[in-house]
Amino acid sequence: MSEIVRKAVVPAAGLGTRFLPATKATPKEMLPVVDKPAIQYVVEEAVAAGLDDLLFITGRSKRPLEDHFDRNLELEDTLQRKGDLERLAQVTESTDLGRIHYVRQGDPLGLGHAVLVAEDHVGNEPFAVLLGDDLIDPRDPVLPTMMRVRAEHGGSVVCLMEVPAESIGLYGCAAIEPLDDPGVVRVTDLVEKPEPGQAPSTLAVIGRYLLDPAVFDVLRATEPGRGGEIQLTDALRTLAAMGPESGGGVHGVVFSGRRYDTGDRLSYLQANIMLASEREDLGPALRAWLTDFVATWS
Ligand code: UTP
Repeated sequence: MSEIVRKAVVPAAGLGTRFLPATKATPKEMLPVVDKPAIQYVVEEAVAAGLDDLLFITGRSKRPLEDHFDRNLELEDTLQRKGDLERLAQVTESTDLGRIHYVRQGDPLGLGHAVLVAEDHVGNEPFAVLLGDDLIDPRDPVLPTMMRVRAEHGGSVVCLMEVPAESIGLYGCAAIEPLDDPGVVRVTDLVEKPEPGQAPSTLAVIGRYLLDPAVFDVLRATEPGRGGEIQLTDALRTLAAMGPESGGGVHGVVFSGRRYDTGDRLSYLQANIMLASEREDLGPALRAWLTDFVATWS
């Protein structure tokens, strides 16, 4: 089995019901964060980590995704004629990222099912899964650390983040054992969206995974879980209980960098404001306006 992680899987076939009606005909991953679709940040992160073979798992509305990462000759031509080279560069940026492939999920039967659909493309290699909901700040990359942990321990690696106890029920939650390596833990069990009082820790699984290809056989045998969906968390739970000789074992990298959650409406709005207020072109005016706006509340 090749040990080098080259491939990234980006599931984008969910129904995005929390963003309806915006997501009626557009994948949630295409919603703009400031002025770039969320999925482009994720693709840039993958490419920066050396993962230049990307597989998008798409659903019924894959067209906007394909168009975004393809050339738009008419637009390029118009911008060229106008001499608007800055915007031309913005338009071609997404086209020149890694090699992008697409596969349809068919029925959106859950994140675990979406990963299983990637099997033919991935083959017998470790691979990354990046969710478009979670944006990791390029100043705080986590994939290289996850790759190091995979190289040292084998098996699969999840990205964990401390969250307030009252929010852990929104996430998959990890039971862990500490290791000597700071910021790295062994995952002994996982619970998807635990009920209050049932969470084994306040470490939430966030949307970056490095998976051993053993996950495919496990997913095939995983029954639909919470919400009737085939849950990746359930498959990871099985992997955590398996030995290293069969591709099992799960480690966690505890991430403490900047992350922007774009998965629900409130955190999506917050992510837009945080990122825009740091931008050179928009930040000064936005921050000044926000200060005045907040002052009018009391
Ligand atoms: P979510 O549960 O956050 O996305 O899945 P969702 O189902 O689209 O959103 P809501 O809850 O209805 O608003 C996490 C990721 O997994 C993908 C989603 O596109 C998202 O990137 N996913 C989920 C799939 O690709 N297929 C699925 O069957 C489910």
